[in-house]
Amino acid sequence: MASANFGIASELSSFCKRDFLSSSDLNHNQILSLFELSKQLKYGNRRIDLGNRVLGLIFTKASTRTRVSFQVAMARLGGQTVDLNPQVTQLGRGEPIKDTARVLSRYCDVLAIRTFSQAELEEYAKWATIPVINALTDLEHPCQALADYLTILEKFGHLKGINLSYIGDGNNVANSLMICGAMLGVNVRICSPKGFEADSKIVDKAKSLSRFGCEISINNDPLEAVKKAQVIYTDVWASMGQEKEQLKRKKIFQNHIVDQKLIEIADKSVIILHCLPAHRGEEITEEALEGKNSCIFTQAENRLHVQQALLAVQLGGL
Ligand code: CP
Ligand code: NVA
Repeated sequence: MASANFGIASELSSFCKRDFLSSSDLNHNQILSLFELSKQLKYGNRRIDLGNRVLGLIFTKASTRTRVSFQVAMARLGGQTVDLNPQVTQLGRGEPIKDTARVLSRYCDVLAIRTFSQAELEEYAKWATIPVINALTDLEHPCQALADYLTILEKFGHLKGINLSYIGDGNNVANSLMICGAMLGVNVRICSPKGFEADSKIVDKAKSLSRFGCEISINNDPLEAVKKAQVIYTDVWASMGQEKEQLKRKKIFQNHIVDQKLIEIADKSVIILHCLPAHRGEEITEEALEGKNSCIFTQAENRLHVQQALLAVQLGGL
């Protein structure tokens, strides 16, 4: 255990005090070491006490998993969380980010921020003198991707060469899956209706980071995309902030539902993932979500373990 801990610390010590704004902020070796630490924490083989450190949560969008898993992760590390909801702080009345970030840096030790634009998140990171974590923006959801790949690693025992097919909107979740997957050697296919494909700049970024010859590809045909898939992943068709498009998208995406038919085309070992919350009967059927291939609730649990590991690293607990 001592040499394993030394390996983890030597890979991750350079990430102490660093921001986690994009999946690309961690490299391949760092992600794998973070997974080792996550597993140690998950199975009670390691205890890390950071001593009364404080995480500030700034969430301008709803959240169950991210909010609660960060709070519980911090509590398990001996720290505390303060909820800096913009509706009850001066943020909601227009106090500039550059002032807010500098003030909060004098009270807190780390900030987790959920907001709309990536530029706003980057503005916080520019002015804060403490680490900033992306808890979801319109562009990326990097903490989610860490939990997703930890779940896949636990299930298959490896990541290199795994075929992951994401069926649905080319959104924040798809973007982080592509970037993180590319660095881990996972073949990531993103299958969306025409006009809803992932951002081409993110696709190019993922391709430029790809390792072990893995393929990052875009496709519009779910029946084709799930062939040989060991992981089928989906997310809502209309993300937070796109509620007005819900009805329009429901029609356009109707052939992109994850159901038993797709599961039967995929590899026999296929697992089903969804970041949640799910809209049963839209992007996924009840049968697929609750069926024997589903690892969705383990995936949700793993948010806690990867984020506990991430906080421990950023706050110098190794
Ligand atoms: N998957 C996820 O981020 O869930 P929440 O929106 O509930 O945090
Ligand atoms: N794409 C979804 C993910 C929710 C966790 C959204 O941004 O609303």
